[in-house]
Amino acid sequence: MAMMKSMGRAQQLGVRKLAGALGAEITGLDLTRTVDDKTLADVRAAFLENQVICIRGQHAMTPEDQLAFAARWGEVAVHPYVPSIEGFPGIMRISDPTAITETWHADTTHAACPPALTLLLARVLPEVGGDTMFSSGYRVYESLSPGLQQALATLRAVHHGTELASSAGLDESAVTTTHPVVRTHPETGRRALFVNGNYVSHFEGWNEGESAPLLQYLYDQVARPEHTYRHRWQDGDLIIWDNRCTQHAVVADTGGAERVLHRVTIAGDTPV
Ligand code: SIN
Repeated sequence: MAMMKSMGRAQQLGVRKLAGALGAEITGLDLTRTVDDKTLADVRAAFLENQVICIRGQHAMTPEDQLAFAARWGEVAVHPYVPSIEGFPGIMRISDPTAITETWHADTTHAACPPALTLLLARVLPEVGGDTMFSSGYRVYESLSPGLQQALATLRAVHHGTELASSAGLDESAVTTTHPVVRTHPETGRRALFVNGNYVSHFEGWNEGESAPLLQYLYDQVARPEHTYRHRWQDGDLIIWDNRCTQHAVVADTGGAERVLHRVTIAGDTPV
C-alpha cells in the first residue's frame, strides 16, 4: 500500500493478492486520467510479481482510454487474423466462451514474437458464470522434477494458428512457428512452461503420437488448482495478464448470456 499522486490528486494505490499462485487486485486508480510514471512503475512491479492483475472500477474507460493506457506498456499489437472493432485498431471484441477461449492457452503463440501482455476490459458481464481461470507457468515449471525440467530444456514445440487463420486466408507458414518448451522471462529471469493446448501440435523432431502423452501430462499440471487463480468478473474490471508466463481459459457456464470484453495485446519478443 502506498500514497501516490496522479495529475495533482492524491490516489491511494492498493495491491492485494488474490491467490497463492498468481493474481492480485489493484484499487485506487482512475484510468480515464493519465497515470504518473511513478504510479505506473508500482503497477508494473505488482504485475511482474503477481503475473495477473485486476484493476478495479474502470467502467468509465473509453476505447481511446484503453488504447492510451495500453500504449504505456509497449507497442499495441494488431491481431494477424481477428479483426479489431470499428475505428480502434488493436481492440478486439471478445464474446465467448468459445472452443478456443475455453482451452488453456497463452495468446497468439503461433507468432514468432507472441504478445508480452494482454489487457482485457469487462464491457457486458453475465449475472453469473464466465469466470476466467489463470495458471502460472512459473509454478508449473517449478513443480516438475529436476529430471523432467532438464529434458524439457532440450525441446522446442511447434505452434500453429487456429482454423480461424485459414478462414481469414492466411497461409499456414504465416501462422506456424517453433518456441522453446520452457522460456526464460525477459524481465524477471524466471523460467516458465510455454506450451499450450490451443496452438501446440507436437515437439519439434517428434511426431504427434509421440508428443501427445507428454504434452497432456504438462497440460494436466497447468490445470492443477494450486497453480491457478479463478477470476470472478465485476463491472469495471480491467485485467492485465503476463502472456509470457501464464495461461488462461474461460469457464463455459454462462448459459448463453451475453459476455463482452475488449482485448488489447502488447507486442512481445522472441521467446528464449
Ligand atoms: C481470451 O482467451 O483471450 C479471452 C479470455 C476471456 O474471455 O476471459
